[in-house]
Amino acid sequence: MDQKLNILTAKLAEAKLGGGQNRLDTQHKKGKLTARERVHFLMDPDSFEEIGALVTHRSTDFGMEEQQYLGDGVITGYGTVAGRLVYVFAQDFTVFGGSLSETHAEKICKLMDLALKNGAPLIGLNDSGGARIQEGVNSLGGYADIFFRNVQASGVIPQISAVMGPCAGGAVYSPAITDFILMVEGSSYMFVTGPNVVKTVTNETVTSEELGGAGTHATKSGVTHLTASNDIDAIHKIIKLLSYIPQNCQDKVPALPFVPGDEYRDQLAALIPENANQPYDMKEVIEGIVDAASFFEVQENYAENIVVGFARLAGRSIGIVANQPMNLAGVLDVNASKKAARFVRFCDCFNIPLLVLEDVPGFLPGTDQEWNAIITNGAKLLYAFSEATVPRITVITRKAYGGAYDVMNSKHIGADMNFAWPCAEIAVMGAKGASEIIFKKEIDSAVDPSAKLLEKEQAYAEKFANPYRAAARGFIDEVIDPRETRRKLIKAFAMLENKTIARPKRKHGNIPM
Ligand code: HXC
Repeated sequence: MDQKLNILTAKLAEAKLGGGQNRLDTQHKKGKLTARERVHFLMDPDSFEEIGALVTHRSTDFGMEEQQYLGDGVITGYGTVAGRLVYVFAQDFTVFGGSLSETHAEKICKLMDLALKNGAPLIGLNDSGGARIQEGVNSLGGYADIFFRNVQASGVIPQISAVMGPCAGGAVYSPAITDFILMVEGSSYMFVTGPNVVKTVTNETVTSEELGGAGTHATKSGVTHLTASNDIDAIHKIIKLLSYIPQNCQDKVPALPFVPGDEYRDQLAALIPENANQPYDMKEVIEGIVDAASFFEVQENYAENIVVGFARLAGRSIGIVANQPMNLAGVLDVNASKKAARFVRFCDCFNIPLLVLEDVPGFLPGTDQEWNAIITNGAKLLYAFSEATVPRITVITRKAYGGAYDVMNSKHIGADMNFAWPCAEIAVMGAKGASEIIFKKEIDSAVDPSAKLLEKEQAYAEKFANPYRAAARGFIDEVIDPRETRRKLIKAFAMLENKTIARPKRKHGNIPM
């Protein structure tokens, strides 16, 4: 028995070495952790149990039978993060560049099946040169097996992808199907075709970083939801993200202990400028409402005219969607609509109540927007809110104009509670624009058209630039003192805690894509 145990010990030690000590050292020289270190820092101490450490590839072409590494370039297993069960795989770049062979894919699929059957999050730490070139279609089949499982697991268990190295070609589509992508700045990139192919096909000269680095996907494409300055920062962000999310779609949101206190927040009364055209920072409103230091923003640098992220209110997780007057006056455009719709759908999948903070002058006009399908994309957000069954509350802090009023979680599309601050303006459009249209003839024929416009504008503003007409119709449940917002929301979300909605039976809806 002793001898057999010795063989096992030797094999496990060999599996830990990946592609060998020199290649592990190379990871460090590149400023990256090794796959095993990433797993180590992610999981609670001594909680990780590895599955399939002794798996080897079956390839016999190109002398591959001579090159065997235990584990075949991916570490798979389960353990806990902050005491909660999670499944994790980490691709090992030191073994054939972390490339995906048939057996490498089988290991990931086995893990995905376990995560789905047992209802716990799946975390992928990606660092791979893509399909194992020596294996041809076997590798492509392995990718498709993973994609298929990503889709089956979507909306059932949370799936988080950290991209910590290369991720190219069709390999990008597994992270893309998962709920969140996090990229490490400077050491990761994602693209369907790399700079060389781009040069050949379009004659553009571009670096990997420009084409698909973390900065590009955080600002231009919106592909990544989070970025991290290094591997450790990435792991901290994954742990933080997990803390807001339930284990699966049947589970309730995580809640931290909460001791009720004085929930009055004086600072909220001073945030909105007297002049309705002056911006203010909606993030200060968020900070004034949620539990101290609990706001965790997602896609921070993409479509900054809308802010989305998680926070805690009275200890419980909520999702926040908020127009940002500091950027494009908080207007809804193509990118903001896509960003918010995706976030709303994630929250709805996983029972995370939604808080909408609204200050929106409408949809952004222009050929660029129309030609890039603001119709379809705006409809996405409308659809996402309308189908969401989680508790949904809106607070209108200032403007709620036009179609954007309807879209931003209005009562009419199923919001449960709609509050407005006294400075709210709920109307078809701003007073000036409205007066110019409906009083055009009167203004044009006036002795002093500017004075007439001003007069009409003031009359219109008095009538419509307030929340009371909407409140009189019951579209707003209550006009509240801003300082009371946090207290009102804590009570309203508690009141909605057991909300249930039965939707008509159907296969699935057909969201405008
Ligand atoms: C097999 C691979 C590999 C791959 C890298 N390696 N990629 N082995 N299949 N796809 C091996 C290298 O041969 C090398 O082995 C080791 O990994 C490290 O690679 P280096 O090139 O030395 O590292 P680096 O300079 O950091 O460059 C990393 C890289 C580059 C940019 C990822 O290796 C590269 O371009 N690889 C090929 C990428 C690619 O075209 N993949 C296929 C994409 S198509 P040795 O033994 O020399 O150390 C695809 C389709 C998916 O993935 C379809 C899904 C539907």
